[in-house]
Amino acid sequence: MKQNNANFITTALICVALLPAATSYALPDAQLRDLSNRLFGPLPDTMPGSGQDTAALASLGQQLFFEKGLSANETQSCNTCHDLTGSKSGTEPLSVSQGALGLTGTRNSLTVWNAGFQFLQFWDGRADSLEEQAKSPLLAHHEMALSSGLEAERVLRERGYTPAFEAAFPNQGDPVTFDNAARALAAFQRTLITADRFDRWQKGDDNALSAKEKRGWNVLYQQVVTPAIMAR
Ligand code: HEC
Repeated sequence: MKQNNANFITTALICVALLPAATSYALPDAQLRDLSNRLFGPLPDTMPGSGQDTAALASLGQQLFFEKGLSANETQSCNTCHDLTGSKSGTEPLSVSQGALGLTGTRNSLTVWNAGFQFLQFWDGRADSLEEQAKSPLLAHHEMALSSGLEAERVLRERGYTPAFEAAFPNQGDPVTFDNAARALAAFQRTLITADRFDRWQKGDDNALSAKEKRGWNVLYQQVVTPAIMAR
């Protein structure tokens, strides 16, 4: 009897665990992809505004992104709070960021990956472009804490960036400006587009997801996404 009870409980548990899989039917790849693309669509290959960006501009922006000289005590670069080294997430592990002078902010740093696809920047959307956004951390006292845009320009000249600015902004008399630094940082960040397997699958590569992952997406789609859409 005891054994029978145990068997019954085990069978019931297995049934509950299998319930989602059992009640969803497996859609063929093409159909699942079509639904998925209607819901998300793959990420575009380029970011809005990148049409005017050149390799020289993005390369300058990349150097500036890692330039610690652009903080009050030369301890911090954009990369300190938006770590891109290796395959990092473009953010940092702290719950709220800490600036060059040790002051803590009030917010968690957002990732810079895909940020240029957002129509507004920051948690509260207070900047409407990557160009406008980039100036803010350079001057914020709880971030990189430079005293002014002029100080940024002085540092950049001192650190030998003039030729790189000249290459990035040909035909400008004196291209080492705060505005141009922000423009270059934005151009670099417009290259930060993630390429993950889900996107590859959405673009048509059947093998980009494993059979198990497709089964999971099937279940999620039919049991979570579809009911949520129907309930609206
Ligand atoms: C001290 C840490 C710190 C530094 C240094 C820093 N950031 Fe940030 N960054 C943050 C935090 C925190 C936020 C979110 C703030 C908010 O929403 O109010 C943020 C937000 C952003 C966003 C908005 C992303 C989105 O999806 O809205 C971008 C882009 C960005 N930072 C780029 C930069 C660049 C470029 C630099 C260097 C010039 C830089 N950051 C330096 C902490 C930092």
